Amino acid sequence: MHGITPGLAVVIVGDDPASRVYVNNKKKACEVVGFKSEEYALPASTTQEELLELVNTLNNKSDINGILVQLPLPEHLDDKAVIEAINPQKDVDAFHAVNVGKIMLGEYDFLPCTPSGVMEMLHAYDIPVSGKNCVVIGRSNIVGKPMAMLLLHENGTVTICHSRTQNLTEVCKEADILVAAVGKPKFVTADMVKEGAVVIDVGMDRDENGKLCGDVDFENVKDKCSYITPVPGGVGPMTISTLMKNTLKACKIQNNL
Ligand code: GUN
Repeated sequence: MHGITPGLAVVIVGDDPASRVYVNNKKKACEVVGFKSEEYALPASTTQEELLELVNTLNNKSDINGILVQLPLPEHLDDKAVIEAINPQKDVDAFHAVNVGKIMLGEYDFLPCTPSGVMEMLHAYDIPVSGKNCVVIGRSNIVGKPMAMLLLHENGTVTICHSRTQNLTEVCKEADILVAAVGKPKFVTADMVKEGAVVIDVGMDRDENGKLCGDVDFENVKDKCSYITPVPGGVGPMTISTLMKNTLKACKIQNNL
């Protein structure tokens, strides 16, 4: 309408197969919604300086509104320094400290893609959060921590579990809404789930046969809960739709629209 096409730059370093799939899906989504996408596929040998230089170039590129550096980066690269180098206005992942801080305060421009996609799913199915026991398994900066914060913003009573949590099964069994973001195949078993709970599976794992699966033992949990998200096809597409929303918002902010 304003003659402006939102633009997303996706940076991938090295050849992690899962990252390759995610990046391809992000590029495809741009095509579907009519955004411009640029892929920067760098070799695993890329230095910190080279990566920072690319981020700086993208920060200054007026046709690029969003910059996404796919994580994880190869070991020798400092992901924190790379994220902090992204202009917060172009940080469509909402990983930069400025954006993380704004989320904590509840005054944000961008929400992190996966937690925001989960909230949107809960809203779409009219699943109430206010006053509910919400248990998040996992405390990553990408999913666990921001997920807990978004549930808290909607007045959930939130517990974050992690590898040192004692009595994990008992804690999970109290959950009305259980979010699994552990990164371990079929980690959440039926005995950890309350009858009628809402189970959200953020995992992208491989089972013993190399088949894609989630953090939840779907087959055994599905009959016990009121809602459950499948892997693939549950949370993943929601993550990507939030990324598109964030890219559009970044474009509007940068063009004062
Ligand atoms: N790696 C796993 N999930 C994500 C994500 O949402 N964004 C980026 N940049 N990397 C990821």
